[in-house]
Amino acid sequence: MPTILAIESSCDETAASVCTDGRILSNVIATQKIHEQYGGVVPELASRAHMQHIVPVVDQALKQSGCSLQQLDAIAFTSAPGLIGALLVGAQFAKSLALALDKPLIAVHHMQAHVVANLIDDRKPAFPFLCLTVSGGHTQIVLCESPTKMNVIGQTIDDAAGEAFDKTAKMLGLPYPGGPLIDKYAANGNPYAYKFPEPQMQGLDFSFSGLKTSILYFLQNAGTSLVFKESFSATEEERNQFKETHMADICASVQHRIVTILLNKLKKASEQTGIKDICIAGGVSANSGLRKGLQQLGEEQGWNTFIPAFQYCTDNAAMIAITAYYKYLENDFAPLDIEPSARAEW
Ligand code: KG4
Ligand code: ZN
Repeated sequence: MPTILAIESSCDETAASVCTDGRILSNVIATQKIHEQYGGVVPELASRAHMQHIVPVVDQALKQSGCSLQQLDAIAFTSAPGLIGALLVGAQFAKSLALALDKPLIAVHHMQAHVVANLIDDRKPAFPFLCLTVSGGHTQIVLCESPTKMNVIGQTIDDAAGEAFDKTAKMLGLPYPGGPLIDKYAANGNPYAYKFPEPQMQGLDFSFSGLKTSILYFLQNAGTSLVFKESFSATEEERNQFKETHMADICASVQHRIVTILLNKLKKASEQTGIKDICIAGGVSANSGLRKGLQQLGEEQGWNTFIPAFQYCTDNAAMIAITAYYKYLENDFAPLDIEPSARAEW
């Protein structure tokens, strides 16, 4: 019955969680508000904010779990991918604690942890399952054979789905991160008001950069055209007025297109592999259009669909803790001189 403390610091959330025997006892997250004014995460500021938050966040996670440091059997941390300065803060903290307590260290891959978040709830997918992992930095279809064995079978060749949401929001003058705001406006809009193009990508890979360009031209033309044009007919005032008046319809139409791009590939992946246990994970899985779309498509296709609880969708340490639990069972420990990596190698 291992009790594990896990730390997540790959981007702009400082998070800690304690789990015992695969059951989450606490899940504490400090979100860094400082980035909002810059329209995106500023790496240097993220590292500094992690330094400020990490001790109180770990302290709170231990308190909420009712466990003492002495009761811990292992210390886990996110080792890749992410902002290197941000990862270093969590890694160094976890290593120091493991050394001081003389407990094993467990290194967890952030993207694998998003997939394994689907195993936190009592209702779990059966292996093998497919997981569409959609976040601010990644868009992947993962074939998961066991909690510790999985392969990426499709991924984005340019922007991530979360980036497509965030960049659209920025073009609309909404603050960062814009994904949740697009979701909110979309609730009152018509998803068929404007038809954005679906990229013609072969296989299971995704592309979102063409969509981003078409949204840019659409807005610069104040909704009159989706066509690439070098000179724009609309004035600044007309553009702003168009955005303001049609915000809900624009958000609903963009969201609809992003969701159909994602679900069409997921359907293709299910057809190719014959797998019908289908999960989603990552920050964008909080999107209501995607959640509803997955449910509808799942009913049509006879899938068993799974979506982690909201607090386990966006970045959190509970997903790191549960992944570390499965690694602990396989005695998969990391040396104390392990270095985190910004890149996404599995
Ligand atoms: O997994 P995550 O918390 O962090 C990364 O590892 O990137 O994902 C953050 C991303 C952001 O792009 C954010 O805009 C998006 O998830 N997001 C959403 C929603 N909630 C978060 N996108 C669309 N609709 C939402 N409700
Ligand atoms: Zn993430």
